[in-house]
Amino acid sequence: MSLAPLERAPIYLDWNATTPPSPGVLAAMREASAAWGNPASVHAVGRAARAVVETTREQLAAALSVHPRDVVFTSGGTEANNLALHAASQLVTSRLEHPSVVKVAEAGELLGKTHWLPVRSDGRIVPADLAVVLRELAAETVPRNVWVSVAAVNHETGVIQPVAELAEVVHGFGGRLHVDAVQALGKLDLAYLAGADALTVCAHKIRGPKGIGALAWRRGSTPEPLARGGAQERGFRPGSQDAMLAAGFGAALAGIDLARHARLAPLRDRLEQWLLRYGRVNGAVDARVSHVSNVSIDGWRSDELVAALDLRGLCVSAGSACSAGTIEPSPVISSMLDPERAARAVRISLGVDTTPQDIETALWVLEAVLGPPRLE
Ligand SMILES: Cc1ncc(COP(=O)(O)O)c(C=O)c1O
Repeated sequence: MSLAPLERAPIYLDWNATTPPSPGVLAAMREASAAWGNPASVHAVGRAARAVVETTREQLAAALSVHPRDVVFTSGGTEANNLALHAASQLVTSRLEHPSVVKVAEAGELLGKTHWLPVRSDGRIVPADLAVVLRELAAETVPRNVWVSVAAVNHETGVIQPVAELAEVVHGFGGRLHVDAVQALGKLDLAYLAGADALTVCAHKIRGPKGIGALAWRRGSTPEPLARGGAQERGFRPGSQDAMLAAGFGAALAGIDLARHARLAPLRDRLEQWLLRYGRVNGAVDARVSHVSNVSIDGWRSDELVAALDLRGLCVSAGSACSAGTIEPSPVISSMLDPERAARAVRISLGVDTTPQDIETALWVLEAVLGPPRLE
């Protein structure tokens, strides 16, 4: 298949979807290709591969403030979320979450295990709301193996949840808190997730390879395996690990630069201020990571706008889900605001390589597509 040539490289403002592997990651993976053995083999070839996998496990444990024993590698964030939550007797979560949490909750709903948290219009989970849900749950059943799941940073709005306060509420009711930190890793200092009993992360949102993530846990909150098989990952996640993916994940972790990431805020703000002439921002603007803007544009359906921008070489995302051949408005924005606003929502997410020139080009493309702003 050949791609139609653009006059210039596309401007990529969809870093929440995935990120370009960094040169350091590619070099580490190339080097680790020599460690092609099975990490479970006891001989030298196996040991070489195992050393790579274990080095990354230690790096990850340090980054997440857990013991290396309490980190298992998975195929990504989706699997780690499923692994963390599939065996919960009771699951408390919200419609703000990634589909890999929402779908587990929907499956549990059929069995009466799921309890939905109310979602506020600014996309934040309020600890007092969580306390109400847990109190009702405690009144109905003896709360055993209750898990609450929230994403530290929302994948569509960039809104940061008050994890420490939520953890306090969860622990007050004897439950456990799972935090999907996929969009927080590399963006924020994860010390604020100290209250989480289990954490999901993945490599490809931090310039690492796709196909590897991890679940980590604290205070003995071990998961129930999803698959049965060998003793790899202490039996919590059987199956042979890949040293190249692990090496890429390790190099991506080593490349995290929080200060550089924080410096994206002025670029995001310039874009967002400009877009405000055409629509409204979705999500709490005072509790967001520095690189995301989610805006509903008047007069445009999000999938149509994304396609029109793509034609001119600007890559952003609609957050909408395609189901049964129809475009459904973003479930996240629908849970916060009205369906009309959700149907017009586009997500723009910057990354550490985004330059001021990229933003100026993006504004130029946006102006060409959107036309002059409407007069107030
Ligand atoms: C918050 C969040 N959780 C989980 C995932 C899934 O991760 P993966 O693509 O590694 O399965 C994503 C990816 O978009 C995400 O943004």
